[in-house]
Amino acid sequence: MTDRYAVFGNPIAHSKSPVIHQAFAAQTGQDMSYEAFSAPLNGFADAARDFFDAGGLGINITIPFKVDAYEMADELREGAALTGAANCLSVIDGRIVAENFDGIGLLRDIEVNLNTPLAGKRVLIAGAGGAARGAALPLAQAGVSELVIANRSVGKARAIAERLSAHGPITGCAYDDVAGGFDVIINATSTGLSGHRLPLPDSAFEGVTLAYDMVYGKGLTPFLAAARDLGVAQVVDGAGMLVEQAAEAFLWWRGVRPDTPPVIKAIEVPLD
Ligand code: ATR
Repeated sequence: MTDRYAVFGNPIAHSKSPVIHQAFAAQTGQDMSYEAFSAPLNGFADAARDFFDAGGLGINITIPFKVDAYEMADELREGAALTGAANCLSVIDGRIVAENFDGIGLLRDIEVNLNTPLAGKRVLIAGAGGAARGAALPLAQAGVSELVIANRSVGKARAIAERLSAHGPITGCAYDDVAGGFDVIINATSTGLSGHRLPLPDSAFEGVTLAYDMVYGKGLTPFLAAARDLGVAQVVDGAGMLVEQAAEAFLWWRGVRPDTPPVIKAIEVPLD
């Protein structure tokens, strides 16, 4: 019987996950289906249980259900436990197990696809919401010499830094307090979706070689445009991260690592 997987979100119509996973399945010869479902805003847990009761084996979770997925799981793996959110569920020995691959997807995109090893680098993350929480742990574990999380609500940035302090040299601060000297800046705020400009001082971009916006398919966001104007050589959006987190989920579910570069190429949208 064909194994069933799905992505749940609300809205879900524009999700690229079915295209990505169907490409992985074709590439690796896996007999599986992958569908997209919209769940009611207060009904994720019921919808996920129905899917699993009907024989479904795994679910990806996108906005706004990542915290619901974390809360309904029987068991948490490290990425989900430390971020308080899950983007992937798998049924293992009859139990619903949660993991969060967003951060590792970002890390693989930067280190492998963009050929920018982060060990010893100074990295700035802008934002302290769910996306930033997911990114912070793998970045800290990558051996960065310094990881600064800047956010409009500074308490949220400091809370992430405190929660992950055992995993690396992380601090939280306000945008005004960001000094220069970074190698990489990552925008993990939702400003790429809303089109707002981040209140980051221009000096934050001095010496930066890579500016990465975690949003995908929005072209040159105000953050990427500012980085380019200020002389950052490489500006990149989150298409690679999206495909890499999917590849980690696929590996967890199927035991096979798909080849990601052709799939990234297929879904990427030009920046300008
Ligand atoms: P996500 O799950 O995508 O991270 P979120 O948890 O709602 O979404 O977090 C949104 C992030 O974008 C937060 O860091 C938010 O800053 P605050 O915590 O101070 O609200 C940030 N953000 C959204 N709009 C912003 C803006 N106009 N300027 C600066 N930061 C903004």
